[in-house]
This record gives sequence, C-alpha cells and structure tokens, in this order.
Amino acid sequence: VHPTAARRPYPIVVQSENTSYSDEYITSKFTNRGADVVASDGQFIVKPTSKPYEFQTARKVSKTGLMLIGMGGNNGTTLCATVLANRHNISWHTKSGVQQPNYIGSVLRASTVRLGTEPGTGKDVHIPISDVLPMVHPNDLVLGGWDISGLPMDKAMHRAEVLDWDLQRQVAPHIAALGSPLPSIYYPDFIAANQEARADNVIPGKDKQKHLERIRSDIRKFKADNQLDRVVVFWTANTERYSEIIPGVNDTADNILAAIKSSHSEVSPSTVFAVAAILEGEPFVNGAPQNTFVPGVIELAERQKSFIGGDDLKSGQTKLKSVFAEFLVNAGIKPLSIASYNHLGNNDGHNLSAEPQFKSKEISKSSVVDDMVAANRLLFKSPEEGAVKGTKAAKGEHPDHIVVIKYVPAVGDSKRAIDEYYSEIFCGGRSTINIFNECEDSLLATPLILDLTILTELLTRVQYRDASTQAEFSPLYPVLSLLSYMLKAPLVKPGTDVVNSLNRQRNALESFLKACIGLESNSDLLLETRIW
Ligand code: NAI
Repeated sequence: VHPTAARRPYPIVVQSENTSYSDEYITSKFTNRGADVVASDGQFIVKPTSKPYEFQTARKVSKTGLMLIGMGGNNGTTLCATVLANRHNISWHTKSGVQQPNYIGSVLRASTVRLGTEPGTGKDVHIPISDVLPMVHPNDLVLGGWDISGLPMDKAMHRAEVLDWDLQRQVAPHIAALGSPLPSIYYPDFIAANQEARADNVIPGKDKQKHLERIRSDIRKFKADNQLDRVVVFWTANTERYSEIIPGVNDTADNILAAIKSSHSEVSPSTVFAVAAILEGEPFVNGAPQNTFVPGVIELAERQKSFIGGDDLKSGQTKLKSVFAEFLVNAGIKPLSIASYNHLGNNDGHNLSAEPQFKSKEISKSSVVDDMVAANRLLFKSPEEGAVKGTKAAKGEHPDHIVVIKYVPAVGDSKRAIDEYYSEIFCGGRSTINIFNECEDSLLATPLILDLTILTELLTRVQYRDASTQAEFSPLYPVLSLLSYMLKAPLVKPGTDVVNSLNRQRNALESFLKACIGLESNSDLLLETRIW
C-alpha cells in the first residue's frame, strides 16, 4: 500500500454547447474536418469534408498497475526507483548539490498545451498536458513484472549503475520491497547468446501454451492482489531478433493461437506476452524494436478489442532525427545522406552487439525519414510507374541512410550518437551538419515508459461515436497510433500511413485530447495579431 497523495480536482470547465459533464463522463462534440483531393488534367479538385463525432471520456481514472517485462534491467529498475523516489519525496546529494525527484522528460507531466488567451491582455494561457483530461499520476502506478534474471530489485538497481549512489542508498529499502521479478519466458534463440548468464529465473519447460497460461495467471493475480482496474503490460526486456512471418503460423489470429499450442519455434517470448495480455483484455505496449506484433497478433487484438501499441522507445537519436530531417525537408533543403553512429556500454548495447538483434534495431531506426521524403516530391523523385521492382526508380528517390551501433562497455548507460546530415543546397552547393548527442539512456527512456502507460490507460477510457450513423459509443481502434510520439517505429492501423514527424505526432496527440473536451486544435494563425 502506498500513500496516494491527494490529487488536485480536475481543473478545466469548457463552457460550450459542444461539451457536457456528468459525474461519470466528459462528453464532447467534434467535427473532423479534412479535404478530398482528386488530381485531374493537371489540376487538383479539392472538396472540403466535415464529419460529426462525439467523444465520451470516463472521468474516474483506473487504479493502474504497470507490469514490466524486463523489470530487472536498466529501464525497469530506473523506472521503479524514480517512481518510488517521487512517491516518497526522496531528495539526494550529488556533487553539485541536493537533487529533488521530478518527471522531467515526460511529455505529459513536464510539457504544456496552449488552452487559449486571456481576455483583455491577449496573453496565452498554458496548462500541463496532464490536466487536459483526468489521467493517472505516475506516483500512483502499482509496479510489478517479470525478468529472466531473478536478482532482487535493489541489487538489480545497483547492477544497472544508472542512478546516483545517494539515491540508490535511500531508495533501496523501498525498491527491495518489490522483491524479485516474476520468473519469465526464455527462448535463447531470440536474444543474444551473451544474455544467457542472466537467465536464472525462467519458467521451466518448453510448452508455449503452458507459458501463455502462466503469464495470463500472473496478470490476473497481480490485478486481484492489488485490486486494480487496469494492468498495462510493457515490454522493456532485451531486443529480440525478428520473427519470420510464416503463412499458417503467425499470419492470422487462429494460426498464432495454434502455433502457441504446438510450441512452434518462431513464436517469440514477446509475442507470448502480447497474446497473454490481449486475451486478458489488458493493454500491451512494446518498447523494443522486434516484430512482436506479427499479423496474427494484430488480428487477435482486433478480435478481442484489446489495446496494443509499439514499437521501440524513441528517446534520443531517432527523436532528434525525426525533427531534424523534417526541418531540412520543410526548409526546402535536400538531405542526400544521413549517417548515424551509436556506441553504448549497457546491457542493451551488449545484446545489440549480436547481428540478429542489431538487425531489429536497424530496421526500427531506418524508416524514420520516409514520410517527410514522400511528402516532398519537389526534392525527391517519386517512384516511377512500371520500373523494375527493387530498383531505385521503383522505390523513389531517398537519402542514403545508414545506422551503426557498437558496444563500448566503458561508457555504460551513457549513449553517444553521432549523426551526419549531408545536404544539397542552392544551385549545387553542399551543407554538412554533424550532431553529437550524449545522453543517459535509461533516464530518457523512463519518462517515455510512464507517458506510454498513462496515455494507454487514458485511451482505454475514451469512447467515440460517429454522430451521423452510430447510436452507441464504442472503444477506439485497438492499435493505439496516438502513442507514436514516444515510439521509433509506430505501429498503425494496417493499411494506413505511418507519421514519423515529431511535430505532427505531437499535434495529433494534443488535438485529440482537446477534441475530447470539445476544443478546436491549436491554430498558430493568431489572426487577431495580423489584422487591424
Ligand atoms: P537491459 O538489458 O538493461 O534490460 C533488459 C532486461 O530484460 C534484462 O534485465 C534482461 O534480463 C531482461 N530480459 C531479457 N529477456 C527477457 C524475457 N524474455 N522476459 C523477461 N525479461 C527478459 O536493457 P534496457 O536498457 O533496460 O533496455 C530495455 C529495452 O528497451 C531494450 O530492448 C532496448 O533496446 C529498448 N530501448 C531502450 C531505450 C533506452 O533509451 N534505454 C530506447 C529504446 C529502446
């Protein structure tokens, strides 16, 4: 039991015919505006569209548990220790003074949205994003999870070598109370061989159906023991190799369930966890790059109406790249090549030093500039119709893009990333920009895991209705692409386009949250400042 600090009452009242409040719900009317565009005879025929919707958000936040897979790793222990430090208000000494716990780096807890302007002065009024709708406070999350390493959590925190010693020392009794992680599923073929020495806490046997049932019962027990309304299951374990997509094995919901029953070798631990969460009706988020969400898992989530999100936390280099590449392309500058080098010395880096696991990361890091390039065919030639498949002409023009990752134990959790952007500028000129980015990996990743968990819980409480055709509200589509801001390779509804631009991802999130309280999304038009 932890002292749930008294939370402030929900602070916003929208006075409008579009927004109504009951004890249970906030209900809003929203018009989704767009435009249909048809190209014909060298002209674009544009027809503005608008469609009325209603959103209904349950006001009562769920008592939420966060079950981390990989709880004893750098991210897992850092998350538990920092949430406990915040919850118990532990401050600690560093060489530069006393440090207070905080949630810097969390979009929800440490960034703001513009609500409107103050009448009279015209000054902007900003509020924390976490105030837009009722959301779980990270201090209130009930923490638990699994790890193939059974080291008790206080010792696992020491092993991670992420936090200052004085914080470790003070938080140790609190984190020790979490005990050891639950035993987990270990199929050695999926993570690097160099992880084997850690695997002393594994569920015995090779029967994948039994493993699935064990994980389902772990989730149920955690939920019951802690009297939770909701459990978010989160993969922050080692990066796995890709699973091969095999027709008849993992391509449909029924096939993946059958493949687990027959203990098929291409079913990864992360997929078993995802299926367990989906069958329990609890959300599953994948913080690593592997293809946990094989087509059969996505179909299963659709069938069960259970929420999933992923892939791969977007903490450092990729986040910057999604901003920087967009800046160049939107400025009318043409990146010719982007070359990225990383080195890191934590256990994640050790695991990624094996080729199949590196491959997963490389894929996840590679597609990040695709949508910006595709949006500017002035700079980059479109794919040529009829061109031979696999050739450059068939793929369309694209900057050369490489990603290298090396394991350098000495630098520990401090990841270094070097990116070179080589671009074509005016009349044949060239520009080279190099960025050196050094960051403490787990301290960037932890707030993202918290944001993803809190947003996911919120999105399970939001329902919508097409006001012209549906009488009843229904839940959102199971693949939560609104989580994209925090993810390197966002999983989206099959058949829809991925948005990588960080600005567009944040706008989508902000617009959605505002729509749920009946407000228009941010316009930077500021018309009143441009007219008499
Ligand atoms: P870590 O190696 O310190 O922790 C991973 C933990 O997972 C280890 O304790 C390991 O024993 C455990 N594990 C491995 N297989 C497991 C299984 N089948 N079941 C349960 N536990 C298992 O790594 P770290 O730094 O915490 O990163 C975790 C994941 O997050 C990695 O996949 C990494 O690529 C990904 N990630 C991390 C980012 C960061 O900034 N730290 C950014 C993006 C992704």
